[in-house]
Amino acid sequence: MDQIRQQIEALREQLHEHNYNYYVLSQPQISDQEFDRLMAELIRLEAQYPEYADPNSPSVRVGSDINKSFNQVAHRYPMLSLQNTYSEGEVSEFYNRVKKSLNEDFEIVCELKYDGTSISLIYEEGKLTRAVTRGDGQKGDDVTDNVRTIRNIPLILRGTEVPSYLEMRGEILMPWNSFDELNRERAAQEEPLFANPRNAASGTLKLQDSRVVASRRLQSFVYYMLGESLPTESHYENMTLARGWGLNVSSAMQRCQTLEEVFDYLRFWDRERRHLPVTTDGVVIKVDSLVQQRNLGYTSKFPRWAIAYKFNPEQAETTLESVSWQVGRTGAVTPVANLEPVLLSGTTVKRASLYNEDAIHALDLHIGDKVYVEKGGEIIPKITGVDKDARFMLGDKVTFTRNCPACGSLLTRNEDEAVHYCPNSAGCPPQIKGRIEHFVTRKAMDITIGPETISLLYDKGMISDAADLYSLQFNDLAVLERWGETSARNLLQSIEQSKSVPYERVLHALGIRYVGETVARKLAHAFPHIEMLMSATVEELTAVEEIGGRIAQSVTAYFSSADSLLFVDRLRKAGLQFTLSEETLADRTDKLSGLTIVISGTFALHSRDEYKKMILQHGGNNSGSVSKKTDYILAGENMGPAKLEKATKLGVKVIDEQTFLEMISL
Ligand code: IVH
Repeated sequence: MDQIRQQIEALREQLHEHNYNYYVLSQPQISDQEFDRLMAELIRLEAQYPEYADPNSPSVRVGSDINKSFNQVAHRYPMLSLQNTYSEGEVSEFYNRVKKSLNEDFEIVCELKYDGTSISLIYEEGKLTRAVTRGDGQKGDDVTDNVRTIRNIPLILRGTEVPSYLEMRGEILMPWNSFDELNRERAAQEEPLFANPRNAASGTLKLQDSRVVASRRLQSFVYYMLGESLPTESHYENMTLARGWGLNVSSAMQRCQTLEEVFDYLRFWDRERRHLPVTTDGVVIKVDSLVQQRNLGYTSKFPRWAIAYKFNPEQAETTLESVSWQVGRTGAVTPVANLEPVLLSGTTVKRASLYNEDAIHALDLHIGDKVYVEKGGEIIPKITGVDKDARFMLGDKVTFTRNCPACGSLLTRNEDEAVHYCPNSAGCPPQIKGRIEHFVTRKAMDITIGPETISLLYDKGMISDAADLYSLQFNDLAVLERWGETSARNLLQSIEQSKSVPYERVLHALGIRYVGETVARKLAHAFPHIEMLMSATVEELTAVEEIGGRIAQSVTAYFSSADSLLFVDRLRKAGLQFTLSEETLADRTDKLSGLTIVISGTFALHSRDEYKKMILQHGGNNSGSVSKKTDYILAGENMGPAKLEKATKLGVKVIDEQTFLEMISL
């Protein structure tokens, strides 16, 4: 046992050292792969021997935003998104902008915009060596093993002219027929259904077991080539060559010489998309020449040489059968329309969101009405109108419920808010379950337990709040219906591991209204012990940058309730972290005290999130927009031109990442 402990400690020491070499000195002594391997080994040992848990272990640093079981990989070229446009007018504006800016002939390539999850495929010497998700655009999850199972992604490229280093950007999709089959199976198993093929594809890509991935029949399309030495200076030609190497390039790709041809393409595919086996949500319009692409360049977010044209969402007409009410963890009550099932862009729609009382009034809804439903970006479709001409008998008018549908309490509505709340937060079951669900989410305590299990344990009286999770017993769990020793052990292990989740995430997990991930992090840094936060006044709270009155009121209200104090106390007794970790504390300085820093652009050494953390850690303020109060702009590649202009005008100093790192390391 002692030997294991030593092994764990040695690994931690090595990893700390390498972190330092990499992040601070920018002089890595080992490869990323080697680092990832050491980290994986550490994570494995820590999982196996939770008794040696340490909140300061370098393993806790492995991004909480990104699934733990995948290594994070920095993108050599950031993965940007495209500016969206919704009308032919905007497309012609884009075209004219390009024309004016280039002031020479140019060609356009039109492609379908496939609606899946983006992927970066790296080929070295013609072999697939890595596949990385988009992540935050700067770094993503290494999902190579899963991607290797996708049959139309070649593992080895054909031909001799393949560049020695190649990144193919593309989209991973789940075709409609695989999606329908998967959801049928899930329905039979009483598992939650995927909302759409996009979610199904990205969910599948993050599975731990690549055998399951293989069984789900994903597909890919590639749409962009990157590398130091590309075969030609034409996007279209390069994609055609890629097709020859065995990559799946859409046959819908088309070169256009005029704006009229672009419009023809848009109109053609707006009709034809209905017959495709996969989802498309628009067309991507690109300048063909790579030289011209480079000349046009990038804004801070998008390339200037391409745009996405989004198709109008499809609409369907159906009947409103009834309205039901859902209660969230904060007690907010939201109306849901139950509809006669109708097919809408490939999926069957049975429910739609009605938002709030004002929205219902605006629609003048009656039961039995013919309504129009549309799918926006959200999972839940929305009702956009009522076909009043189709009314022949007026059903009951839909009015907002006065009582909580779950516990019967009289609802309250603040004058300046459109939302109704159930005030019975301590006794209303969906609120209690919702709070526990929030507590266990990945960005909070990261406990692997689904809503059904929470509901089951609650209904059986085994838990009545999140703190009860920490007193669950193996023997009680193992005997539950359809459970077994393995599920029981896994849950308990996951609960145990959550005890080393850092303070700032514990704070987020508490579910204080308006205290999300970012606010929790700010509060944790300003009040590094929970006692300090508990006794903080509204004035002390609002003195923290970006903490306003609304948040401050909510925090003081939370800690003035005896129930909350008891809850926190029980969590503390269970062993949760309520102090900023020693490491973070030790690293805290006031080198940036009193300085307000704006981050802009994309970076090579750290992610934006990491820079944000560093600013806070060294006592500075991080702000989103440039103003008179800004002291520095930490600028990466492709800083937004608007920000740069404003900075110059206000005389704000612009520093690069090297300079910033020097400022905090001196
Ligand atoms: S080009 C820098 N082409 O849409 C240019 N993207 O909103 C990179 N997408 O992240 C993108 N089909 O996931 C491009 N034919 C296509 C595409 C496409 C789908 C996705 C992709 C991208 C997002 C941009």
